[in-house]
Formats: sequence, C-alpha cells, structure tokens
Amino acid sequence: MQVPERVTICEVGTRDGFQIEPEFIPTERKIEVVDLLAEAGVPRIEVTSFVHPRAVPQLRDAEAVMAAIRRRPGTRYAALVPNDKGAARAVDAGVDIIHTVLSASESHNLANVNMTIAESIDRLRAVAEIAARAGVPLQCGISTSFGCPFEGEVPLDRLEGVVRRLVDLGARGIGLADTTGMANPRQVSQVLARLVPRFPGIEWTLHTHDTRAMAIANILAAMEHGVTTFDASIGGLGGCPFAPGASGNVCTEDLVHCLHAMGIATAIDLDRLIGVSRRVEQLIGRALPGQIIKAGPSTRRYPVPDSVAGRLKAS
Ligand code: COA
Ligand code: ZN
Repeated sequence: MQVPERVTICEVGTRDGFQIEPEFIPTERKIEVVDLLAEAGVPRIEVTSFVHPRAVPQLRDAEAVMAAIRRRPGTRYAALVPNDKGAARAVDAGVDIIHTVLSASESHNLANVNMTIAESIDRLRAVAEIAARAGVPLQCGISTSFGCPFEGEVPLDRLEGVVRRLVDLGARGIGLADTTGMANPRQVSQVLARLVPRFPGIEWTLHTHDTRAMAIANILAAMEHGVTTFDASIGGLGGCPFAPGASGNVCTEDLVHCLHAMGIATAIDLDRLIGVSRRVEQLIGRALPGQIIKAGPSTRRYPVPDSVAGRLKAS
C-alpha cells in the first residue's frame, strides 16, 4: 500500500463541531479545548469561523477566542471565512491561515452563504486580496465536492471549474469537503486522479464526514494519491447546520490511532488527544461517536481468563 511517512491533521472540532451545538459553549471552555489540542501536538487547528453571528450564533465569540488562546509554536491557527468581511475580521484577530468556504453545488452554496457560486467567487477574490495584503496564506475549501444533499451528484467538470477559479485567485491549498458523507473511496480516488495532476503545487486537504461510516476509507484512498492533509474533529463532533443529514467529521483520535498503527507519523500524542476528547464529552454533556475512546488503542491487552491460563500452562 502506498502511504506517506507523515500526515498533517487539521483539527476542526471547535469550528465544524461546535457550530452545531445548540447550547452556547462558554468562551473560556472553547479556549481551553483549543489549548488542550495544541498541547497534544495538533499541528493545525481551525479554531472558529468569522461568519455572521446570526448564521452561527455559537461562534459569535470568534474574536474573543482567538485573542485568548495560547499560541503554541508548532501549531498553526486557522479560521473559516465566507467573505471579505470575515477575512478582515480574521486578519485582525491574527489567524495564521484563512480557510474559505463555498460549495460546488448552487443550492448548498445558497443555503450556506446566501450567494450563488459566481457571487461567492467574487467575494473570495476580495478575501484573497485581504489575505495577500496581510501575508496570510489562503486555503479554499469546497463543500459538497463529492455530492450535494439537495442536488445529488456533482459533476467532476463542475468541481474542476471551481478549483480552477480558486487557484486562479490565489489559493495555496484546496480543501475538498464531503459535507454530508456521500463520498466513497473509489470516487475519492477518481476525483483525485483527475484533479491532483492538473493543479501542481497545490496542497490538498480532504475534509470528511463519517455520516455513512466511509470517512477513514476515503482518507486512505486520498493518501494513495499523495494527499497528506486531513481535517478531523475531536470525538467525531461536527455537522453542517445548512446541510440536512450532516453528522460528525471523522474522529481525530480514531484517525490518529489508525495512522499510528500503520506507522504514519502525525506529531500528535494519542493519549493526550484521548484526554481532550474526554474533556469535550464532559463539556458537551454527552458521549461522542469516537471508537478509540471506548475500545482503547489496539495495543491494549486484557488479562487472560483463569480457565484459559490453566490450559495454556498445561500445554
Ligand atoms: N461577519 C459578520 N458580519 C457579517 C459578515 C461576516 N463574515 N458578513 C456579512 N456580515 C454582515 C454585513 O456587515 C451586513 O451587516 P448590516 O446588515 O449591519 O449592514 C449583514 O451581515 C448582511 O451582509 P450580507 O453580505 O448581505 O450577508 P448575508 O446576510 O447575505 O449573509 C453570510 C451572508 C455569508 C455572511 C452568512 O450567510 C453567513 O455567515 N454564513 C455562514 C455559514 C456557515 O458558517 N456555515 C457553516 C460552515 S460550512
Ligand atoms: Zn464539515
């Protein structure tokens, strides 16, 4: 199997995860989670989003969170923005990377950001100017890249056209997002086989949701095409408020466990990460979908039952 030596995990739980939590999570708790993730060695964190507070009330404290996190050298702090106003706020807040959002399907883009794709691209041109002026790198995410909950299939030509426009306006990275867990590994492979060679020098990120239990399989398929950056959410938090049926991202600790078991480095301390997940469960007040937090790592061993021990000794 073709696998990289190391991959970069971008934790999106405090953005993609927290954004759908109905109860306001106090600002200090959000800061605590971001700091704990950084201390566990997470190299990139999408901390929050600079969107309209009416659209996502949970993240209305984006400035306050960014201002109070402890910046760990070795962690880069990103935020999601939909437009130039968000970009200006993000730059003022001192983000290291701007992540933008638009969808490959018109209906999801309208539902999510109240713009047509063409209008979004225009606004993202203004975002790119703000980012360039501030010297902040730009990563453009594309929601519904592998299918739309309203329109179904998203033609690959259309996706490629959107990627082209984003690369032309200055994106250094492109994030392909499977917003509602519609992608399957063969499809991921087909999409990347087409796109990766056509856009040399672009850093690709795969953003998966485990809605239909295909997220890790999709990540493995992407790794075979040289993709080494993956979004994930602590505990498997997540969902899109503007995409019916969306559920959590791939669970960070489950993904890190899988990668480490395969000998792929992440620079993340898995035990500490599991500790963060437990803390998040406490804060949210319910169990999260992650598996490793329940099963323990595959290196976990149990005592041999007495009946078996006796027979082992005798044999
Ligand atoms: N942050 C804060 N306020 C913003 C903003 C931003 N990023 N963008 C626009 N606004 C304000 C404008 O200043 C304007 O304010 P005013 O009425 O006081 O003048 C108002 O919002 C309307 O601006 P407009 O450009 O018409 O925005 P809109 O109402 O069409 O909303 C978005 C567009 C993109 C701002 C909104 O749909 C949004 O925030 N979506 C986020 C969706 C999201 O986060 N989805 C989940 C992640 S995938
Ligand atoms: Zn998402």
